[in-house]
Formats: sequence, structure tokens, C-alpha cells
Amino acid sequence: MHATHDAVDRQRFERDYALFRERHPAYLTTGALDELRAREFARLDAQRHVYLDFTGSGLYAASQVRRHGELLLGGVYGNPHSSNPASSASTELLESTRRRVLDFFRADANEYALIFTANASQALKLVGESYPFEPGDQFLLTFDNHNSVNGIREFDRARGARTLYVPMVPPELRVDETVLLRFLDGAATGRHNLFAFPAQSNFSGVQHPLAWVDWAQERGWDVLLDAAAFAPTNRLDLTRVRPDFVALSFYKMFGYPTGVGALLARHAALAKLNRPWFAGGTINVASVQADRFILAAGAAAFEDGTPDFGNIPAVADGLDLLDAIGIELIHERVVALTDWLMREMLALRHANGRPLVLLYGPAATEGRGGTLTFNFYDQNGRAVDHLEVERGAGERHISLRTGCFCNPGAGELALGLSRDELEHCFSDGTRMTYEDLRSCIDPHEAGAVRVSLGPVSNFADAWAFVEYARTFVTR
Ligand SMILES: Cc1ncc(COP(=O)(O)O)c(C=O)c1O
Repeated sequence: MHATHDAVDRQRFERDYALFRERHPAYLTTGALDELRAREFARLDAQRHVYLDFTGSGLYAASQVRRHGELLLGGVYGNPHSSNPASSASTELLESTRRRVLDFFRADANEYALIFTANASQALKLVGESYPFEPGDQFLLTFDNHNSVNGIREFDRARGARTLYVPMVPPELRVDETVLLRFLDGAATGRHNLFAFPAQSNFSGVQHPLAWVDWAQERGWDVLLDAAAFAPTNRLDLTRVRPDFVALSFYKMFGYPTGVGALLARHAALAKLNRPWFAGGTINVASVQADRFILAAGAAAFEDGTPDFGNIPAVADGLDLLDAIGIELIHERVVALTDWLMREMLALRHANGRPLVLLYGPAATEGRGGTLTFNFYDQNGRAVDHLEVERGAGERHISLRTGCFCNPGAGELALGLSRDELEHCFSDGTRMTYEDLRSCIDPHEAGAVRVSLGPVSNFADAWAFVEYARTFVTR
């Protein structure tokens, strides 16, 4: 019985795969990624794991771990804040990795500094806490932003500046550019104006146009680009677009090392920032009795304490891997799989004709990445609890993400939650949890399901998810 089942599934898989390849001939040019998966990511198939949370984290190749292990075992590395041989060895590695990162993003070292951080959030916080906000200044950001960007509003408010949010328009969840231009035209003259947006939404997968960087800069804004969700499968070329600040996390690009991110900052923009404190590693000198300190120049002033010298060099291995494959090839594959997945999911219907899937964000691949967020609806039009979807997926070894993905603005617009409704829920919520919010709103509607594709995603992963989705269809 089971074997027959398997044979039928196999036949359907082969038929769907053939149709997919016919529709996406470009996918055939990305075969190097299948070889890479077999060679470097064998653990995925050995464990029958369908990994669909690349926006949560990338995965590391076996050789990245091996190479880094060899590096650590082959040297003596000490605290870089010294000048002994072990310290110099660490410093050399840190500096060569810094150059490697700048090269990867095609950033001219005369124009950009590279600051190592713990993750994208810390990079964003460095900008938020150091940006010279004063009364009359403005912080402009899209509704579509990770909480680590939203949180910057607390710094600007504490210093009397204004926070302005640019809304997005459902169902595509893109920004109306005439509205954006109106906001950008409102830069306060002679004041500090900071504009932040994600190059790719971690909620909807929308890729907001990088042309906004120039538009904003021409109108007097400093631009903070959150590239955390964009950089893993898209080329960010800092000769083509020159944001003042770029934040990212390396584990999202290639899984390992965790705990290392970066702030790429134009030297001129960096010079505008005022650090709110000093720490070990950030100063030339400090005195207790003279009550003075002199900050170090450039990037060093922003790297608090001892940098993660044991892990940072592993960033170069990840970048080497991406370069060896070519990020354009990865992009090609992700686009093809996203297109197929989206079409198949949107075609799923209950026997009464109602669609199973409500997708939040664009239903075509243009201007979007490989992140798909949606809810399943039953035949009566009621949302299936996203936690139930996650549980069922887990039973099939499918890793996906549910909730609001730390992007409340996009979530609120996508799910149609009104300001009144949300203010009411927060009214006595000094200790409110996500569960409290779920029970205040309709818990079924208070979150969504997200699947996201990455470098070693393949057709079988996408197919396995659609098979799982089919189990929610009422025949
Ligand atoms: C778009 C975006 N920005 C920022 C972050 C924060 O990254 P981290 O948690 O690594 O600091 C994330 C993480 O999911 C993200 O997707």
C-alpha cells in the first residue's frame, strides 16, 4: 500500500518537475547549485529536511565549517587589542576580512567603512543611538520595516525629533511613490533627516526600489538601507547605489558564522554620528582624572570591546562560497522556484471554489524576492491558525516560520488591523505578550505563515510544501 503510494507520488513529482523545467528553462542553468547541495549540504537530504526559512537564517556549507576549523587549528590567535604575535595574527585576519566584505559589496574603501557588529540589529542600533537627532529633525521610515529599524524611533523621539511613517498599499504591500516623494520633499532644511527602508521586506518579499536612495539623498536625507533580507540572494553593488548606511547579518547570507553582522557606512555619514559612550577598543585614550576621552578614528570608534575575532574570519569563507557560485545564479534559481511556488499555491482551491491561500504581497516575481507570506483559509473563509500550520509542517520535517516576523507594520496592513483595534489591545498592556495580542485580536488573524527560499533550495523543497498545503484543501 505504502509503496504504491510512493510510486504515485514519484510519478506526480516527475510530471510536475518536467512541467516546471519547461516553464523555467533558466533553472536548468543553475545545476551547479544541485551539485553544491549534494556535496556541501548533504545533511538536508540525509535528514529529509525541507528547509524553507532562509529569511530566518541561511545555511552553512560543510566546507565553510571545515575551512574555519582548519584556520583556528592552524594558528595562534589572541586578543587583537595588543601587538604580540598572537594579537597581530588576529588583527591581520580581521583586517583582511574587512577588506573582503568591502570588496564583496563593491564598496570603495575610500568611500565606505566596514564596522563589524553582532548582527544587523546592532548595526541599526549604532546608527539610531548615534544619529544627531535634535528637535526639528526627522526620521522617516516605511511601515514595512523590521522592529530593529522601528526601534530607532525611540532614539529620535527621546531627542525631540519627529517620526514619520510612509504607508504601503495592500494587497501588493508596495509604497505609492507619489506619496513617498511627498514625504521626501518634506526634508527639513538645515536639519538632520534620516530615511530608512528595507531593500527587501522580510514580511512580503517586496523589493523596494534602490532608486529611492538617490531620490532621498538628492532631497537632503541620509539613507539607512536595511539589506538583511536582500543581501542573501541579490547583488548589492555599492558602486551603483550609495546609501549612507547599510545594515546586514552574515548568518542570513550563508549560515555561519552566527553572531557577526556589519554596518557599512560612508565615511562622511559616519563623521556625522555622535557615539553616546565610549568603551574598550573605541578610543585612542581616556582618563579618569582628566575626565576626558578621545575616540578612535573611523570604524574603530563603533566596535565596542573586543571584536569577535574567533568568528569574524569565517565571514570570508562564506563570501568565497557565494562568489564561487555567483549570487546572480542563486538569484535566478530563487526567482524560478518562487514563481512556481506562488502559482501552485494560488491555484489551490476547495471543492466549493474558495481559494486556500491568501498571499500577502505581490503575486508575480517582478520586484520581489523569494519570501512568501500567507494564510490558509478553510472552505468557509476562516483563517487556519498559523500555529497549526507550523505544527503540521514540523511533523513533515518542513522548517518554516509563522507569526509577524518582527515586522508589525507590514503585518498590520496585510492583515487589515486598524489603529483603533491595536490601540485598544495595547490599552492596559504593560506586560503584554504576543499571546495576549493574539487573544485580543482574532487569534487566527494575528499572524501569518512564511516560507522563504535560498541558495540550495530545490524543486523538491517547493513541491513538498505544496503537497503539504494540499492537505488543507477540502475536497
Ligand atoms: C529585514 C531584516 N532586518 C533586520 C533583521 C534583524 O537581523 P538580526 O536579527 O540578525 O539582527 C532581520 C532579521 O530577520 C531582517 O529580516
